[in-house]
Amino acid sequence: MKTYSFPKDFLWGTATSAHQIEGDNTNSDWWAWEQSKYYPGDRVSINEQKPVFKEDREYPLEPSGKACDSYNRYKEDFDLAVGLNNNAIRISVEWARLEPKQNEFSEKEFAHYRRVLSAAKKRGLKTFVTLHHFTNPIWFAEKGGWTNLRVSKMFAKYSKKCAEELGDLVDTFITINEPQVYTLQGYTNGMWPPNKINPILSFWVQVNMAKAHKAAYSAIKSVNKNYQVGIVKNIVWYQTYSRRYHFLDKLAVKFLYFLGNGFFLNMLGKKIDFIGLNYYFSSRVRHLRIDNPNDWVSDLGWWIYPSGLERILLYLGKKYPGLPIYITENGLADSDDKNRIKFLKEMLTSISSAIKKGVGVKGYFHWSLLDNYEWHHGFWPRFGLVKVDREGGLKRKPRKSYYEYAKICGSNEVLS
Ligand code: FCB
Repeated sequence: MKTYSFPKDFLWGTATSAHQIEGDNTNSDWWAWEQSKYYPGDRVSINEQKPVFKEDREYPLEPSGKACDSYNRYKEDFDLAVGLNNNAIRISVEWARLEPKQNEFSEKEFAHYRRVLSAAKKRGLKTFVTLHHFTNPIWFAEKGGWTNLRVSKMFAKYSKKCAEELGDLVDTFITINEPQVYTLQGYTNGMWPPNKINPILSFWVQVNMAKAHKAAYSAIKSVNKNYQVGIVKNIVWYQTYSRRYHFLDKLAVKFLYFLGNGFFLNMLGKKIDFIGLNYYFSSRVRHLRIDNPNDWVSDLGWWIYPSGLERILLYLGKKYPGLPIYITENGLADSDDKNRIKFLKEMLTSISSAIKKGVGVKGYFHWSLLDNYEWHHGFWPRFGLVKVDREGGLKRKPRKSYYEYAKICGSNEVLS
C-alpha cells in the first residue's frame, strides 16, 4: 500500500446541479420537454417539444418532478457534505427561477439562493456556483435559446445580476457547465431540448457559448474585479491501441481531441481565472471507430480509465501554465456501490501523480453528493455517495463509499 498526500490547502467537495436535485423547476425548457411527454395536453408553448426515440427507448424516460427536493432540503444536504469532511461544494443556481421573464429578476428567488449559499458558508464550505448547467428559462428558449444573436448580452446581464446579488457569498463563479456536451446533446444528436440535429447550428451555438462566457466574465468582473470566474469543460481522453497504430487512427485521435477541447478553449482567450475539468471516460480508436476495451465500465456503460485523467491534466498543465485547475466533476453510475471506492482511489491517485509532476490541481469535486435526475435517463443511474430513497420519502442514506471518501477528505490523503 502507498500513501498519496494532497497539498495542504486542497479543496475537497462534491458537485450537484439545480435541475437535477432541486425539484419543480417548472419555468425551464427541460421541465417543458419532460411535461410534453407526460402530459400530452401540450401545456407549454415551446414548439418541437417531442420525446426522442433512440435505441427503442423514448426519452426522457421519466420527468424530474420533485427530484431530491433539495430546493427545500439544502441544509440537510450541506450537513451531509460536512459529514464528508468537505471544505467546498459545487452547486448551480437556476436561471429559469432567477429571471422568470426576460429582464424581470425575482427578488424572492435571489433571497432563496442567498439563504442556500449562507447555509453552505456557515458550514465552512467554499462555494463554487455554476450559472448555467444545461437548463434555460422558457422565455429564452422561445427566443431561439443559444442560437440567438443577442445571447451574450442576455447571459451577461443575468450573470452580472448574480454577481451583484450573490457575489459576496460566492467563492468561485462558473459561467457555463460543459458547453460542448450541451451542444452535442441539444444540437447534434437531438437528445436534449431543443432536440435539433443540425451540425451547423451546433457549431454556431458553441461559438455563441464561448462569446457568452467572455461577456459574462467581463460583466462579473465589472461588479468586483477580484471575483474568480471560470468555465467547466468536459474532456474525453482519446488514444489508439499502441504507438505504432495506423496513422489514420492517430490522426483521428488528434482531431477528436482538438474538437473536444482545444477548439473550444482557444476561443476563450485569457478570460478564465481557472479551468474546471469534468472527467468521466476515455475512448480508444481502432480502424477509425471508437472501440473501447470496456474492461471496467459503469452502470451507464462508460469505460473507466483513471490514467486518462492524468493525461488530460498534464495536457492542461502545459497549455495553461500557472492557471489553477479544479476537477469539478468525476464520478460513476454504480447503484450497488461496488466500484465507487476503487474508482475514487484510482482517480485520486492519478490526480496526485499529475500534481507531483507540477500540475496545479487545487481541488476535487465528486459527482455526486446524491443520487439525482440524470437527464434523459431519469433516475435510474445512481451517481450518489448518498443514496436517495425514491420510494421512502427521498430519505438520504450514505453509502459505504461516502464513509471512505470522508476518510480521504479528512486525512487529505489516499491509501491505495
Ligand atoms: C455531466 C453533467 C452532470 C451529470 C454527469 C453525470 O456531463 O455535467 O450534470 O449529468 O455528467
